[in-house]
Amino acid sequence: MSVPRPAAVVVLAAGEGTRMKSRTPKVLHELCGRALVDHMLAAARGLDPERLIVVIGHDRERVGGHLTATGSDVQPVVQAEQRGTGHAVRTVIEEVGTIKGTVLVTYGDTPLLRTDTLARLLETHAEEGNAVTVLTAEVPDPTGYGRIIRDGGGAVLAIVEQKDASPEQRAIKEMNSGVYAFDGALLSDAVTRISTANAQGEEYLTDVLAILREDGHRVGAHVADDHVEVEGVNDRVQLAAAGRVLNRRILERHMRDGVTVIDPETTWVDVDVILSPDVVIRPGTQLHGRTVVAAGAEIGPATTLTDTEVGEDATVNNTVAVGALIGPQAAVGPYTYLRPGTVLARKAKAGAHVEMKNARIGEGAKVPHLTYVGDATIGAGANIGASTIFVNYDGVEKNHTTVGDHAFVGCDTMLVAPVTIGDGAYTAAGSTITNDVPPGAIGVARERQRNIEGWVARKRAGTRSAEAARRALADEAAEQQENGT
Ligand code: UD1
Ligand code: CA
Repeated sequence: MSVPRPAAVVVLAAGEGTRMKSRTPKVLHELCGRALVDHMLAAARGLDPERLIVVIGHDRERVGGHLTATGSDVQPVVQAEQRGTGHAVRTVIEEVGTIKGTVLVTYGDTPLLRTDTLARLLETHAEEGNAVTVLTAEVPDPTGYGRIIRDGGGAVLAIVEQKDASPEQRAIKEMNSGVYAFDGALLSDAVTRISTANAQGEEYLTDVLAILREDGHRVGAHVADDHVEVEGVNDRVQLAAAGRVLNRRILERHMRDGVTVIDPETTWVDVDVILSPDVVIRPGTQLHGRTVVAAGAEIGPATTLTDTEVGEDATVNNTVAVGALIGPQAAVGPYTYLRPGTVLARKAKAGAHVEMKNARIGEGAKVPHLTYVGDATIGAGANIGASTIFVNYDGVEKNHTTVGDHAFVGCDTMLVAPVTIGDGAYTAAGSTITNDVPPGAIGVARERQRNIEGWVARKRAGTRSAEAARRALADEAAEQQENGT
């Protein structure tokens, strides 16, 4: 059967998440480039719900601000005081009214839950014609979770919280995931009848199961295939564990689509990263944000790319890049830092110990060694000698440098911006260039060399240098005598 479209998905995210011990609200902690709550919302959107509601409370300015900034389809509902999961849902219904149809309730801190699993829950719910269907899982250690109480025939009777459970009930391994499909109209009525007579004095949403059952309605359960998916994140140990699972899932998706990942254990790829077939990712690589890598490109080892685009068959080795555009067949690294606004054209090179920002490097141009390129345009086929500095900052303003096509900038040139090196122009090694160099000219801006003979013998007498010089000069003299010169 096709998956029934839910009338609403309600995501509970009002809790503080004290065990995170954080300034950041729990649901805004990130995994694989996305906040915890956004992982849940992405899974929920896969069901195409008519409305998407998030219950916020603790730090609601920040969480609410995040939600409105990232998804216009999300309706936040404020639960001012966190008086339990049942109270959270009651607050939603008081604000938006009875929701007709199926209402799916989930949490904002279960980032591993997949659309598929939610869809299976909705199918069971519809097929069995239940008033409520709870998603459960068998877990090795159910400590802390609500337990699913079934009768001899396997029918679900109730959910009992850890703190309210008897020793026999605590032995039950089937746990409540906290995810449910409800009939909206029945839910509206039931949430008004939840008591607070329990160990925590809270309104438990779990009580709705027993209430509906006592009313004579059908109560069911759907057991998840994989308990790891329904386990929430409560502390940073679980955050890291969930991150590893999520990362592995992302990598497996890419590998099945034709990407080679040499070492999945040390490779981290954010959810929104786009990789083409025949990309090779070497160990120790992290791809973040909106990074896009085209076919045949090789990334790594030890490379971190954020919001960076890499063209076909480019190689990027031991590099950190943020907001850069690396053209097809370009070569970057090792030990290269590309900052925002760097654009390398086809076959361009940014080599070892090179830093670039806001710079366009023309087709086939080479910046091979030990160079800073800031605020610059470099023409096609230009060659920038080792240790060149684009002196872009005069202490007040950033200025632009232009290097023409097939220009040759000598080693250790200071290009003091604003300055232009014309097409096919050269600069002499060691020059400090402050004036434009016209096309085809060579700019020489350095002291002429003079040698002071015998300086070492006079000023550094008795040193190894003086001794080495004396020997060399004696040999030279002997040779000249032999040759009769
Ligand atoms: C809840 C379930 C438990 C289940 C477990 C699964 C109840 C009473 N118990 O327990 O059976 O095994 O989840 O993780 O429902 N929240 C609000 N407003 C509130 C209270 C909670 O929005 O007033 C949100 C929290 O932000 C959190 C979620 O609901 O995301 C669960 O709340 P929490 O207090 O952690 O419930 P548990 O004790 O884990
Ligand atoms: Ca919890």
